[in-house]
Amino acid sequence: MVEQGLHKAEVTGSTPVPATMKKRILSGITPSGSALHIGNYFGAVKPQIDLQYDNEAFYFVADLHALTTVQERGVLENNIKNVILDYLALGLDPEKCVFFRQSDVPAHSQMMVVLGNYVTFAHMQRMHAFKDKLQKGAVTDTINMGLFNYPILMAADILLYKPVAIPVGEDQRQHVEITRDMAESFNKKYGDILVLPEPMISKETGRVVGTDGERKMSKSLGNVIGIFEDEEVIHKQIMSCFTDPNRIKATDPGRVDGNPIFIFHDLLNDDKAEVSELKERYVKGTVGDVEVKERLFAAHKRTFKDARERRNTLKADEEMTRRILRKGAEEAATVANQTLREVYETIGIINSLNKK
Ligand code: TYM
Repeated sequence: MVEQGLHKAEVTGSTPVPATMKKRILSGITPSGSALHIGNYFGAVKPQIDLQYDNEAFYFVADLHALTTVQERGVLENNIKNVILDYLALGLDPEKCVFFRQSDVPAHSQMMVVLGNYVTFAHMQRMHAFKDKLQKGAVTDTINMGLFNYPILMAADILLYKPVAIPVGEDQRQHVEITRDMAESFNKKYGDILVLPEPMISKETGRVVGTDGERKMSKSLGNVIGIFEDEEVIHKQIMSCFTDPNRIKATDPGRVDGNPIFIFHDLLNDDKAEVSELKERYVKGTVGDVEVKERLFAAHKRTFKDARERRNTLKADEEMTRRILRKGAEEAATVANQTLREVYETIGIINSLNKK
């Protein structure tokens, strides 16, 4: 596994890559919600942005994956547009990386059909997303096959590009592992065709906790701090954040370690002197939760000011986004189609009857 510090964006996949060559990395985001939150940002998007300069990066919006949960046309359309704008506004540079939509490259779906044959039903049943649903009381006749097959589509997304590392949050580790298993099972039969990728997960930010202070920050759990929502919404999210449950009055000495409000200060607040001062006062019981939260809100505004402005500019020019996505899809398809062809030839689907 590649452990990665936020500012140490180095890729060291197991596949040998000549030192002079850029390393290929790949990642994606599912537009299952209408906007990215700071968990997505610090866990995945920021590391991905840092990595785009020195590596050959492929980043995409996994719109087909969203169908497992979003089945209203208007909602899906809105989510896709928002997540694309969010991703670009946060600093992903389409001149430095290949940025595209999954559905614009049909090879993803084609590769999925192939890969399903190199993983067993039992293995798929052990995947978290599926198992979690069952544990939450869902019965199998309410779980769609899109959800069950989700890891196969994700393996297709990855293996088509032969990347050495996949920068993601901790919750995606199992998906990268099953991708490796599929590639291994394929290679065992046919020789070294597919590349086994490594998950690349930040030790510090691979699992950003939610405002409830317990569970992973996640839109579906309602414990997020957004990035691009109206300021009143962000303010409310920050003000509702859990702090030290044992502290009743502002004059009680408080606990800083593991306190979500300080986890967010450490992530968001560029004024490190202010963070140290607040922590000191919190421990002594000379600052109230409200002031700590208001300062976090101010830091949030500073940190995302440029991104919010960029997003407005992008939003006003849909043709620019269309151009970016067209270019990205072309570049991505060139690589993906080459691997698909190689795979088709290897397994016997391309043969003397249809070979050009
Ligand atoms: P998604 O859209 O759920 O999340 C996007 C990225 O954000 C990370 N993340 C977090 N990181 C830290 N703390 C959190 N609280 C947090 N919440 C989310 C996720 O780990 C992820 O990196 N299946 C993927 C999308 C995908 C993909 C791929 C990724 C489709 N194909 C191929 C990599 C390679 C997903 O739904 O991520």
